[in-house]
Amino acid sequence: MDSGLENVVAAETILSDVDGQNGRLVICGWPVELLAASMAFEDAAHLVWREFFEELPDVRELGARLGAAREEVYALVHEIPDGLDVISFLRVGWALLPDDESLEAAIRLAAAGPVFTAAAIRRAEGLEPIHPDRDLSHAADFLRMLAGKVPDPSEVRALDAYLVTVCDHGLNASTFAARVVASTRAGLVSAGVAGLSALKGPLHGGAPGPVLDMIDAIGAPENAETWIDGALASGERLMGFGHRVYRVRDPRADALKAAVARLTGTAGRIRFAEHIEKAVLGRLAKKYPQRKLETNVEFYTALLLEAIGLPREAFTAVFASGRVLGWTAHAREQISEGRLVRPRSVYRGPVPVPA
Ligand code: ACO
Repeated sequence: MDSGLENVVAAETILSDVDGQNGRLVICGWPVELLAASMAFEDAAHLVWREFFEELPDVRELGARLGAAREEVYALVHEIPDGLDVISFLRVGWALLPDDESLEAAIRLAAAGPVFTAAAIRRAEGLEPIHPDRDLSHAADFLRMLAGKVPDPSEVRALDAYLVTVCDHGLNASTFAARVVASTRAGLVSAGVAGLSALKGPLHGGAPGPVLDMIDAIGAPENAETWIDGALASGERLMGFGHRVYRVRDPRADALKAAVARLTGTAGRIRFAEHIEKAVLGRLAKKYPQRKLETNVEFYTALLLEAIGLPREAFTAVFASGRVLGWTAHAREQISEGRLVRPRSVYRGPVPVPA
């Protein structure tokens, strides 16, 4: 029995290879650093979907269809009730989409990430949601629907780098959840909602908001070590550190750090974060000498999303807006295998007493 399934291989995939010993991530043949530096969301969508949808158009047409789908799904915003947190808003919105295994379903899911996330943030602030603009790129429209103005190209570039960096990552918890649901032939929307539900937990995609909370609580470099010692002594996990697969630094951390550094005005924040990172790594190495705990993707995710003006309560929904590409591609890959995922359990309960 392997309760975390860490030694179980449950799928063959052509989508991504997570090399935890050497700190490398390859997505469809591309090192993640190259993807982050060169691709937009639309390119990544084409890359991960191209083997799974025969009718996939070229990148330009795919971008146009994503833009049209953003406008289409916007009509559902008024059906989503008030008073929901951002993840719940996105989950309800996604659940309203037509559920099947088609390219249209995948495009609508991907299109709806920014539309519902931006609408949720604006509603929570007492503002009216903003109608999508199909002529903008996916990342540019995301930021425009949040702030109400066409964003600076450097911010668009940073958001693209983020969405592309997190678009797929092996058989992580949310992708596995999506594959299990897809294997029942429930549809891509059901698989996406399952992925989102798994992503929400603080041990998976819910970490970057708490990373900023930690940075704020530390407040100044001279407080770092005392604060970290206190947190570790009380048994807390330090968000943005440790990983089930990586035994060295998560390569996405540096891809995202480079993207933050390209934004003006971030140098001071990066220096402070580096100070905290160094202190955390030193303390974790001391506490767990046998277990290498390193920086994961969430630490610099927090800095990047903060720098482009996203509120921390929306970070997990933004993550989902990138990872939805991987969930839908994995779902299609699982469907093509045609096998229901159904592991077994060992019964440890009471045995029946003879009458
Ligand atoms: N802070 C403090 N202690 C930690 C941390 C951490 N970030 N990570 C692991 N540990 C401790 C564990 O409590 C465990 O201690 P114990 O033996 O005394 O119980 C020991 O280190 C070994 O833990 P692992 O087996 O490495 O942890 P596991 O593989 O189960 O968990 C996980 C990996 C969930 C990511 C963990 O490192 C963690 O909770 N990190 C903080 C949350 C986080 O950043 N999540 C985002 C991950 S990236 C992603 O999902 C996109």
